[in-house]
This record gives sequence, C-alpha cells and structure tokens, in this order.
Amino acid sequence: MPASPYYRSDLARIHHEGFGFHADAVSPAILRLLDPVRERGGLVLELGCGSGLLTKYLVDAGHRVLATDASPAMVELARTYVPAARVEILRLPDDPLPTADAIVSVGHPLSYLDSEADIDRALAAIARALDTGGVLAFDICDLEWGAERREQPPKVWFGDDWMLTTRFSVLDDRIFRREMTMFVRAGDLWRREDETHDNVLIDTARIPELLARFGVAAELRSAFGDESLPAGLVAVVARRPQEGGSRAHFDGVPDEQRTDTARDPGPRALLPRYEG
Ligand SMILES: C[S@@+](CC[C@H](N)C(=O)[O-])C[C@H]1O[C@@H](n2cnc3c(N)ncnc32)[C@H](O)[C@@H]1O
Repeated sequence: MPASPYYRSDLARIHHEGFGFHADAVSPAILRLLDPVRERGGLVLELGCGSGLLTKYLVDAGHRVLATDASPAMVELARTYVPAARVEILRLPDDPLPTADAIVSVGHPLSYLDSEADIDRALAAIARALDTGGVLAFDICDLEWGAERREQPPKVWFGDDWMLTTRFSVLDDRIFRREMTMFVRAGDLWRREDETHDNVLIDTARIPELLARFGVAAELRSAFGDESLPAGLVAVVARRPQEGGSRAHFDGVPDEQRTDTARDPGPRALLPRYEG
C-alpha cells in the first residue's frame, strides 16, 4: 500500500473533470460485451470505478451495478455523480468480492497494486467471484507501457481552477512512476498537493493461463472493441463458461490431468452474494 492513499480529494476531482476520455472511449464496447448480462438482469461489479465515469454509462444503459474503489474521495464523487449506483469502498487484492455476473475494471486499476504477486492474487479473487456464464473485462498495463514511455517529458494539464504537472519515470522496466504536483483554486489562493503513483508493469501474456486455472477463459486484445487504447494498455476479455462444458473446452487441460495448483481452489459458493 502506498504511504498515503492514491487519489485524495484534489486529484480525484482533477481526474473526474479532466480524464473522462478513457471511460468515454471504452464504454460502447464494454456495453456491447455486457449486453447479455443486462438482458438477464445480472449484477455488474465494477472495480476501481474512480468517480463513476464508466459507472454512469452502465447505469444509464439499464445495468444493475455495484461500483467500488479503494479511494474514499473517488467513492464520494461517484456517489454524487451516479446516485442510482451503489458505490462502496473495496481495496484489491484482499477485500472480499461478491459473486457477480460481470466484472469490469477500466483505467488500469489493477496496475495500481503494490506488486505482481498482488495482481495475481487479485486476478484469482476476481476469477472466483465471476459466476457461471459471467463476463470479465478489464485493462491493465503491460511491460510495453514502460518501454513506450521511457523518455516521456513532463506534462501539464489545466482546468478552469486546477492545474496538474506530471513527471514520468520507469524503474527497472517494471514500475511506471508518476510524480504529480497539482494546484487547485481555494478562494483567492491556490492549494498545492503532491501525489506519486507507481504502476506495476507485467507480462500480460501470463494472464490467460492464470485465469484458466480458475475456470475462466480469457483473451488478450489491443482494445475492447473498435476504440484505440494507448500503447502498452492491454484489454482482457474473459468468460466463465456455462455449466456442462468440460474445463478442457477453454484451457485444453482436462480436470483429471490437473495438478493441485492448477485446480480451482476457490469455493465460490462461500462468497457473499450482493442482493442490491
Ligand atoms: C486511473 S483511475 C481509473 C478510474 C476509473 N475506472 C476511470 O476509468 O475513470 C484508477 C482507479 O483505481 C483505483 N485503485 C487504485 N488502487 C486500488 C486498489 N488497490 N483497489 C481498488 N481500486 C484501486 C484508484 O483509486 C482509481 O480510482
């Protein structure tokens, strides 16, 4: 966990006002992927929802949504921005996840975890929480994200009453660091805040095999649909097949040939069920 939480109130607000383009870009394809879930009135669990930028698209399309994020400031904004959604604090990888018919997470929330081992633990928990016939869609930073940005110069963004400057660095090819300084108008004065975010970069090619151990069949894509994602951001689209199909259908390994570590160890039936 970072020394102080990511996305305190000033940065949460700046993200909400200045960085909605990603949710805008991915929402049409995410909504298409989730159509069958909406038709059967299934629950969509959103992880790392931020201020609710994607949540609003989901709710407006008629989805039943439980939106979650680790940042209390983001959760507060999302509750105001999407009053029809239930929004709760949930920190990956250790907080329990309710069983859901779809799980979505965009804007690479998983890359904010502290280590690759934490990302693996979160992916295992996500896979266990995905109900039969469920759909999983998330984006995550690959090692290529760092390779593409090694020499990136500092950047500045402005709003009417805020300004954000960011310095970038890549540590050991595995950590993408953003050192941010922001100024937000407070009456006649400007308040300064600083946040440093580390994103863990991984070889995303490992993800399908990891999810397959939990009975979830995944594919890596350059985008969720026909939008363009930034270089190094990988879209993962996955499904837990309907009951009746043998595991060999989606990962090629029949149950009887599985080693203990390859067998789904998660008693999904024991997960809390959200009834909202
Ligand atoms: C770049 S923002 C994306 C927000 C939103 N999904 C969007 O597209 O606008 C990443 C989000 O991940 C959340 N996050 C970071 N670490 C997290 C964790 N350990 N568990 C859950 N959410 C986390 C942050 O609080 C932040 O809201």
